[in-house]
Amino acid sequence: MSDVSNTRVVSHAGGSILEQTVSGVGIVTFNNPDKRNAMSLEMWEGFGEALTSLRDDDSVRVVILRGAGGKAFVSGADISQFEKTRHNAAASEEYSRRSATQRELLATYPKPTIACIQGFCLGGGMQVAMLADIRIASVDSAFGIPAAKLGIAYGYDGLRHLVSLVGPSWARLLMYTGMRIDAAEALRIGLVERVFPIDTLWGETMAIAETISENAPLAIKAARITIAEVLKDESQRDMAAIKAIGSACMDSADFREGRQAFMDKRKPQFRGR
Ligand code: COA
Repeated sequence: MSDVSNTRVVSHAGGSILEQTVSGVGIVTFNNPDKRNAMSLEMWEGFGEALTSLRDDDSVRVVILRGAGGKAFVSGADISQFEKTRHNAAASEEYSRRSATQRELLATYPKPTIACIQGFCLGGGMQVAMLADIRIASVDSAFGIPAAKLGIAYGYDGLRHLVSLVGPSWARLLMYTGMRIDAAEALRIGLVERVFPIDTLWGETMAIAETISENAPLAIKAARITIAEVLKDESQRDMAAIKAIGSACMDSADFREGRQAFMDKRKPQFRGR
C-alpha cells in the first residue's frame, strides 16, 4: 500500500486545498478542519487549480478527493461568507458562477475520480461527492443537504446528480426535510458505493485507486464516456463519440499489450495509447 505521508504537498488557497501525487494517484485534500472543511469561494478556486494541475500531469491516472481532520469530508459552503457573498439573488449569482466553474471541471474531468468520505458530507460537500465517479465512505460518515434549513435552493446540477443516484422520492425526502442519513442508509439507497471501518477507509480507497491506475487508461476512458452518454437524454446522446473511443481501444498498443500479457501470464504494462 502506498504511503502518502512523505510525498510533496502543493498548497492552494492558502493551504486550505492540498494536492499530492503517489503511484499514479492524485490526491486533493479539503483542508480547513476547524470549519469542518466548509468551502469558501477561495477554496472552490483552489480546488479548481488542484484539479487542473492533476489533470495536466500525465503520471496521474486517477484522483481521490478527501477531507482533512477526520470529522468531515466537506460540511458545505462556508456559511460565514453568506452575508457578504450570497445575501441575495444578485450576489448569489456571482458566487454560483465562480464556484460552478470549478465544479464543471470535476463534472467533465477526463480521469476517474473517487470521493473518500469520512464524517460529515453536507450541502456543497454532497455536490462535490456526487460529481465524483465513485464514493467510498467510512462507517461514521453522515450525509445531508440542509438547504431547506437555510432557505436556499440547491440548483439544477446538484439535484440532477442526486436524482440520478437515489431516485426522485429519496431526493424529495432528503431535500424537503434537510435530514441527515448515516453510512448504512447512504449505502442502501445508492448514494455511496462502499462503506469501510474508519481505520481501513484510506487503505481500501487507495487500493481501488491503484487498481484503476494500473488498468488500461483508454478502456477506462471508453467506460467513462459511454456511461456519461447513457445518462444523457437519448436525443442528446453522442453515439459517434462512443464508437470513436471503442475503435481507439481496439487499435491501441495497450490492447495488444493486454492480450500479450495474458498469454505470457504476466502483469500488463499499459501506457494509455
Ligand atoms: N460554514 C461555516 N462554518 C462552519 C460550517 C459551514 N458550513 N460547518 C461548520 N462550521 C464551523 C462551525 O461554525 C464551528 O465554528 P466555531 O468553532 O467557530 O464555532 C466549527 O466549524 C465546528 O463546527 P461545530 O458545529 O462545532 O462541529 P460539530 O462537529 O458539532 O458539527 C457540523 C459539524 C458540520 C454538523 C455542523 O457544524 C453543521 O451543521 N454545519 C453546517 C452544515 C450546513 O448547513 N451546510 C450546508 C451549507 S450550504
